[in-house]
Amino acid sequence: MRTTKEETKRDGLLESPWQQAGNGVSSGVLTDQVYDCLIVGAGITGLTAGLILQQAGKRVIIADLRTVGFGTTGGTSAHINNFADTTYAEAESAFGEKGAQLFADAIQEGAALIKTNVDRLGIDCDYEYKTGYIYAETDQEVKQLDDIYQGMLKVGIPAVYNEEAPIPVPFKKVLEITGQAQFHPIKYLMALRDAFFKAGGMLSENTLIDKLESEGNIHSVLINDKRISAKRVIYATHMPPGINVFSFRCAPYRSYVLAVKLKDDKYPDAVVYDLQEPYHYVRTHVINGEPLLLVGGNDHKTGHDDPAKAFSDLEEYTRKFYNVSSVKYRWSSQYYVPADGFPYIGQIPFMADGILTATGFNGNGMMLGTISAKILADQAIGVANRYSEIFSTSRIKPIDGFTEFVKENADVAYHLVADRFGIPETDSLERLVPGTGKVLEYDGKKLAVYRDEQGNIQALSPVCTHAGCIVNFNTSEKTWDCPCHGGRYNTDGSVITGPPTKALQQIQIN
Ligand code: FES
Repeated sequence: MRTTKEETKRDGLLESPWQQAGNGVSSGVLTDQVYDCLIVGAGITGLTAGLILQQAGKRVIIADLRTVGFGTTGGTSAHINNFADTTYAEAESAFGEKGAQLFADAIQEGAALIKTNVDRLGIDCDYEYKTGYIYAETDQEVKQLDDIYQGMLKVGIPAVYNEEAPIPVPFKKVLEITGQAQFHPIKYLMALRDAFFKAGGMLSENTLIDKLESEGNIHSVLINDKRISAKRVIYATHMPPGINVFSFRCAPYRSYVLAVKLKDDKYPDAVVYDLQEPYHYVRTHVINGEPLLLVGGNDHKTGHDDPAKAFSDLEEYTRKFYNVSSVKYRWSSQYYVPADGFPYIGQIPFMADGILTATGFNGNGMMLGTISAKILADQAIGVANRYSEIFSTSRIKPIDGFTEFVKENADVAYHLVADRFGIPETDSLERLVPGTGKVLEYDGKKLAVYRDEQGNIQALSPVCTHAGCIVNFNTSEKTWDCPCHGGRYNTDGSVITGPPTKALQQIQIN
């Protein structure tokens, strides 16, 4: 638990512009208790669910391995949209008209719930409505944009083609969608936390929930020698721990953001998205009284491509189209792509009844995290929710989703086997540059070795403690990232992103 004002921590070395808004507060003392609900993870999903349940008269404890907003909510670019990465046309082809409509309703209800919280709790979190634009630069993208447009019309989202858009990039066609929004995610999250405390909720930061035991309808765990029990458990951690169906149905991706100052003050008063692969988006946010252009995208699967290159490509793209005076912030964050395009929300298959999760939000975590919280809270209380079935964790996947399913599984299998043999023999400890890490062979053993700026060496086992894939070094965030399910570790081996719960083994070398 934190008791003093301090900067919000995040799951990487790079600082996001949101972190300065954090402040620590005490939340009470842990005692042996039976709660109605234990929520694991204090991001937007966990805190929203906690607040809903606590305000409904339930007794809730939220535990986080680190601190409030440490994970993806602290690194999001905080878009609030009424459209999603899975387009409504794609949703219809995979889940039918009714499925697409429910998906659209869920996205919009998530966005509306954020606004309701902002108004009801009087949250000062830079919430602003913006007009959105999606533009096509090639004939193929024009076709894609037409599909997006048709899909939106079918689910009742007003979109119109326009001749102009507030961007310097040449385009062939642009779609205008009103009613988009943006906010400061950590200011919002801290206000949810304070409202949760005010309603009597309990928060335990720096707390690992491990070895959950279930007996009948009660699930319990030891936290600092106190036995904490709960009738329901919600894993709001993106991936629940252990090897489960989500390990094979969700793929981890990293996304990159720059916040830059412009020389010419031409900041767009809009949220704008292209259709390139990898894609880009821009929006403006005033941080500490200074407008900054947020440019994001260049996403890739975690642990696969070079993060430093993703940043340099993004900066090159930004400088090509904008008159950049300086780059104020650069940071990356993680999200999970579901194999069939829809999030998984509800009971974790093969776990005891009443252990729930929500995962696979794609790049739409603000809306889907928020609506997931409502769905999970309803399920925890036993109230019917009209989205439960379409997002069910045990849904039968539509046939055309199987290609993606097989691809993600094949990829994991590849890393489990091939990475063990792919270490170049020429890599040696002596050649390791300060501030970098590498998996290399030393004394006949494969090691994940990091050399800090002072030249000190930290050697670890490179074998991920989740399911045994080999980790890769993230040169930008200075973390060890697992290419299989997105587990991430500090340079000392400690876990910063699940699903692993155990540290990489430290190895002594001479
Ligand atoms: Fe699953 Fe590493 S996160 S093997």
